[in-house]
Amino acid sequence: MDLQASIDKNNIPKHVAIIMDGNGRWAKQQGEDRIFGHHEGVNSVREIVEACGEIGVKYLTLYAFSTENWNRPKEEVDGLMELLVATISMETPNLHKKGVRLQVIGDILSLPASCQTELQESIDLTAGNSKVTLILALSYSSKWEITEAVKKIAKQVEAGELKSENIRDDLIQNNLSTHAYPNPELMIRTSGEHRISNFLLWQLAYAEFYFTDVFWPDFRKNEFYKAILSYQNRERRFGKTSEQISNN
Ligand code: FPP
Repeated sequence: MDLQASIDKNNIPKHVAIIMDGNGRWAKQQGEDRIFGHHEGVNSVREIVEACGEIGVKYLTLYAFSTENWNRPKEEVDGLMELLVATISMETPNLHKKGVRLQVIGDILSLPASCQTELQESIDLTAGNSKVTLILALSYSSKWEITEAVKKIAKQVEAGELKSENIRDDLIQNNLSTHAYPNPELMIRTSGEHRISNFLLWQLAYAEFYFTDVFWPDFRKNEFYKAILSYQNRERRFGKTSEQISNN
């Protein structure tokens, strides 16, 4: 059944963040190498970006490679970097045609030069698009990002440009790599793991979490719509009472 029709178009999260997990286990189930799972995972990425465009999700952040993923076997890391370059190169014309703007967060300078070049070309080409902003978290970890923000703020204090008593949460928010995007209202993690693994720790403060046992390569449009429907059934209270929310 296509679940898209059941979605309330007036209550769509603006920003969805996803931890795409389970590629390796999916591949193992098929008797294949882990990298085969990552390749299949690209098809899920394509479908979910499309689904965002169809229902009106404006920002989609995908955790594609964490700082900790550098510790994986070299052949898997190399395979993932090659896949990333090939995917960006192949998919960019289609993304551009569909009005998708590509953005990246993370320690981009640690990525191979070919990867940085491919990403920059795609970012430049799609810069004027506004239907969906696809944010790839690459060589990203939230602790790294927060540490970088603290360093920037400390430098301003050192230089006498900022008083420490003026450090408020909006200043910290404005120094994160996500400062130009709204915080995600919904965070999805596939493959049955119930952790956030150093992903958007600050930005997810009030997000709804959706966990599914489905492995990422099997997470296609209908699975995404299930997550959106679950989100739409939640009451978001932001620390208030149920009564306060219904009186508003
Ligand atoms: C987690 O599964 C997945 C990754 C670390 C990589 C995700 C990459 C892709 C889906 C392909 C490239 C993406 C883009 C955006 C072009 P896992 O390997 O941890 O799986 P496991 O937990 O079953 O071992």
